[in-house]
Amino acid sequence: MEKKNNGFIDEDEEELEREVSNDDFNKKLDDLEKKKIDSIRIKKIDQTKKRATVDSVFDERMYFHVNKLLKTGRLNRIEGIISAGKEANVYLAYGENNREVAIKIYKIDSNTSRWMRNYIIGDPRFKKIPHNISKIIFLWAGKEFKNLKRAYRAGLSVPEPIYIKNNILIMEYIGFGSIPAPKLKDIKFPKEPIKLLNEILGFIKILYQNANLVHGDLSEFNILYHNQKPIVIDISQAVTTHHPKAEVYLVRDIKNVFNYFEKIGVEIPNPEDFYYEVINLDK
Ligand SMILES: Nc1ncnc2c1ncn2[C@@H]1O[C@H](COP(=O)(O)OP(=O)(O)O)[C@@H](O)[C@H]1O
Ligand SMILES: [Mg+2]
Repeated sequence: MEKKNNGFIDEDEEELEREVSNDDFNKKLDDLEKKKIDSIRIKKIDQTKKRATVDSVFDERMYFHVNKLLKTGRLNRIEGIISAGKEANVYLAYGENNREVAIKIYKIDSNTSRWMRNYIIGDPRFKKIPHNISKIIFLWAGKEFKNLKRAYRAGLSVPEPIYIKNNILIMEYIGFGSIPAPKLKDIKFPKEPIKLLNEILGFIKILYQNANLVHGDLSEFNILYHNQKPIVIDISQAVTTHHPKAEVYLVRDIKNVFNYFEKIGVEIPNPEDFYYEVINLDK
């Protein structure tokens, strides 16, 4: 039962208090990153005791929800960590029917929530902007899920969105076995670079024209290269085409993509022409 569409869940709060935090998931994560979390906590305790308590509560809430997923069988096993980023960690796990999935867990962080607000403000899909840090992060994770859904429905090459709860997003895993697909930035010699460029340009165009979105952080860092095809990830900051900054972000996305292909020696078309083609206007 979802309470509100901002994804902030209170109904489990009581249960959360009853549940122990040293649960299955906690143990599973132990080997992966507990040390890291502990060191962050120790640092925060040194800084201010109050913040440290708040931070650990958020951790426990996340542990609680992931543990629930493990207990209900939605998740079978957490295999390992794929990426530890500033804003989120990404894990490889096995879901229902042992399907490989990627779990992206956003960190509850006040600095992150501050810049996130800029992207949420002006997006007609989000009328009320919460002040609470965790609520902003939940909204942000929900935004990535919604954006993935829109892009996926438009037939675009993004991981299939599977599940969202608070700051926990589960999506299709892109990779072979335990080896996740490389980022395009690590590919110096793609097999058919011109075809690849055209596929990415097609992505930008369909995302704008059919899904009415601009990615906003598109570059060789957020494109995976899988089976010689580009798969676009990290779509949380994408804004609708009505957003006041949509055009600025679109120009930046186009520049980033063209820069990468120029760097690897591909003759690129005129970026300005492509921009007008995307927004469907004659110069
Ligand atoms: N669905 C996925 N399948 C495989 N690897 C993924 C997937 N999503 C993300 N990753 C890996 O995790 C890294 C970080 O994910 P990303 O969404 O870009 O978050 P951020 O850049 O904010 O840390 C990616 O660069 C990629 O290596
Ligand atoms: Mg990224």
